[in-house]
Amino acid sequence: MLRFGLLLSLLVIPLQLSPNDAIFPGNIANQYYLNKQRFLLEILHHLQEPLLHEQWIALGQRIVSDKTEYVFYTEQMEQFYQQLSSDRLLPKDVYYNPLQPEHYRETLGLFQFFYNTREWSTLRQNICWARVHANPGLFLHALMQTMLKRDDYRVLIMPKIYELLPAPYHSETVVREAGNFNYINWIRQQAMMGNQSHIQMVLPKKLLPMNLTGDLRTASKWSEAMSEVQILSLSEPKMPQGKLSHLIEDFGWLSYWYYLNMGVALQDNPSQAARIRDWCYWQLSQIVARYKLERYGQQMEYKRLPMQEQENSQLLTWQGQRYQLETRATRAQLTELLRKLELRVEAAISTQSFSLSNGTLIDLQKGHNWLLGLEQLFPYDLSQLQLPSAGQPQQLLELHTMLRQPRFYAYADRLLHAYRSYRSEFQPSYPQSVRPADISIEDILVEPLITFDEPVDVDLSNLLHARNFYYEKHFMWPHSLQSRRLRLQQQPFAITFQLVSNRTQSTILRTYLTTAGGAVNEEPFYQLDSFLTVLYKGNNTIRRESRDFLGSIGDHISFTELYHYVSLAEQEQYDFPLNITLPSCGFPRRLLLPRGGTGAPLAMRLLTIATPYNYKAKQGNELFCDFSKGVSSWDELPHGYPFERFVEQAELQGSHAYWKAVEIAHRDYKLA
Ligand SMILES: *[C@@H]1O[C@H](CO)[C@@H](O)[C@H](O)[C@H]1NC(C)=O
Ligand SMILES: *[C@@H]1O[C@H](CO)[C@@H](O)[C@H](O)[C@H]1NC(C)=O
Ligand SMILES: *[C@@H]1O[C@H](CO)[C@@H](O)[C@H](O)[C@H]1NC(C)=O
Ligand SMILES: *[C@@H]1O[C@H](CO)[C@@H](O)[C@H](O)[C@H]1NC(C)=O
Ligand SMILES: *[C@@H]1O[C@H](CO)[C@@H](O)[C@H](O)[C@H]1NC(C)=O
Ligand SMILES: *[C@@H]1O[C@H](CO)[C@@H](O)[C@H](O)[C@H]1NC(C)=O
Repeated sequence: MLRFGLLLSLLVIPLQLSPNDAIFPGNIANQYYLNKQRFLLEILHHLQEPLLHEQWIALGQRIVSDKTEYVFYTEQMEQFYQQLSSDRLLPKDVYYNPLQPEHYRETLGLFQFFYNTREWSTLRQNICWARVHANPGLFLHALMQTMLKRDDYRVLIMPKIYELLPAPYHSETVVREAGNFNYINWIRQQAMMGNQSHIQMVLPKKLLPMNLTGDLRTASKWSEAMSEVQILSLSEPKMPQGKLSHLIEDFGWLSYWYYLNMGVALQDNPSQAARIRDWCYWQLSQIVARYKLERYGQQMEYKRLPMQEQENSQLLTWQGQRYQLETRATRAQLTELLRKLELRVEAAISTQSFSLSNGTLIDLQKGHNWLLGLEQLFPYDLSQLQLPSAGQPQQLLELHTMLRQPRFYAYADRLLHAYRSYRSEFQPSYPQSVRPADISIEDILVEPLITFDEPVDVDLSNLLHARNFYYEKHFMWPHSLQSRRLRLQQQPFAITFQLVSNRTQSTILRTYLTTAGGAVNEEPFYQLDSFLTVLYKGNNTIRRESRDFLGSIGDHISFTELYHYVSLAEQEQYDFPLNITLPSCGFPRRLLLPRGGTGAPLAMRLLTIATPYNYKAKQGNELFCDFSKGVSSWDELPHGYPFERFVEQAELQGSHAYWKAVEIAHRDYKLA
């Protein structure tokens, strides 16, 4: 027994320990930390506009060129410096897209000027330089990479991407309205003509939702932190909405994809590549499965995703350019890429061999050769997908907006089909047994599954004109503009498993959500949760709360609140907690379930599969978008097992599996 207990504690503790414990006793930030955090927030404030902060402008005159200030001074840095010296860097007003080869190379150079610095002072100077001189899109990309990848700076909190560059996450109307907002005029109008503006002051001060992770909005210090800030709320004009907009326009859904790709990008760890690839394709299949379940819930075609659908939302880039949907050239390129891939997979299957990029022909049935084929056919890093047509803003090609386009899912579905075909053909049998002996799942009880639309405020402050924040050259943050919108949410629920075991043993339980019926290889299977548990001899009852589901996260405070909490802490009026960072690569928990039915509830099924545990669990840090140690896994089975390939119906039957019919209802929101 000791062994099980010990093992569980080893697995559980690293997930909960804050990485900062050692540096900051008591989990409270000190002045050094607060200094850095304030700097970061000030530098990121109004990122898309010229910097007005005098202190940081002064510091940003020159990039640090002394090579001894860097751990490595790489060739990419040399090149970047040469381009800088000859004034050939990407201009500030050019549309930035890392899918363009030159932009990508420049990003690498700047990233290394950040990442390779020895001292914070060097990094800070380079950040200031880049904020003043570099293209803002490129600057943010390189900085985000640095903050995700440097362990020592990971404690610093970056505001969410949809707060930093709000434009692509909101409709054009909202972006224009916020950009044209003038506080003085607004006050005058309010006095003269009553309150007819779309923008209203929120009194008493309040931001939604109230319950955040860490309770930072209900804490008594909140009013104190926000005492100098006026909260302005922009009500979005009612627009005709697509049937899926509550999912594909959700900023949590969109930004999840952004972070995941940022985490995987520039990853240089060949020993982990196979596991990371596995994980990335699993994430993609989760995204597609979840999307299909939403279509299923809305009674739309979901088995074969139609190629014709386009979402016509009008969106602006942060530079105010309008996004195109998808150009003919892009469509032709992507279709051609997919067609070639499908042909190569078909050829591999029919000849059982594959020609590597260096010309060597390999037999795919021999040894680990199938992995070489997998590696070359299925890259996982978007930087390998460099499209010549990426020079214009297109929703389909940008991480901020990609998931808004129904076509994305149609392309991804084809890609996954090729991936599963390849694996089904060549994947050897698993390195471990998959059917646990002496375990039987007897029943699964599910609390009512209820979804609702919840009002939420999204921080738009970065869209306001920068002059609203400087008073006699002094930076202040006197008002916060928030957009109130509805988003999909669910009531927390629990699943209770009843299992019988013949002996004491550990097992992994994976639970999938799927449609009410159909052929297994045509239906989407979305993994809700997986966990390790100990079973004792006899009956076992195990309860899992939805808030504990693996990889899911709740809500975080906004950019404005963060800044004011930091200010309060600097005045020693507040103990700034260091364990409030939410992992950026967590999936928004509120999107686990598709929107329920309003009349009749939505009929679905859960499938739970038990596999034996063989003490091979690994702990990665992918929740924090850090892939340097690979990814976490319970065992040696592929992620998303058994759906990483096509399955036989019989695999999903037996005492190790359990199907349970469930219903999801959608209710009106009631203010508590
Ligand atoms: C705006 O006007 C409505 C009625 O027209 C009133 O109920 C509300 O209190 C006013 N809000 C403010 C902030 O003055
Ligand atoms: C928010 O908190 C309230 C009260 O604690 C709770 O009833 C509600 O379920 C919570 N909402 C979510 C989405 O967790
Ligand atoms: C942060 O740590 C404090 C004290 O250790 C604890 O009370 C609080 O619940 C933690 N918050 C989070 C979000 O983990
Ligand atoms: C081609 O690559 C494979 C796998 O990396 C390697 O085993 C083989 O020796 C290479 N062949 C040549 C001709 O370089
Ligand atoms: C329990 O073990 C016995 C023998 O060890 C076996 O015959 C029986 O089928 C097992 N029961 C279950 C539920 O696995
Ligand atoms: C488990 O529980 C069920 C019903 O609650 C009971 O019928 C069964 O005998 C129990 N099995 C064992 C091994 O205790």
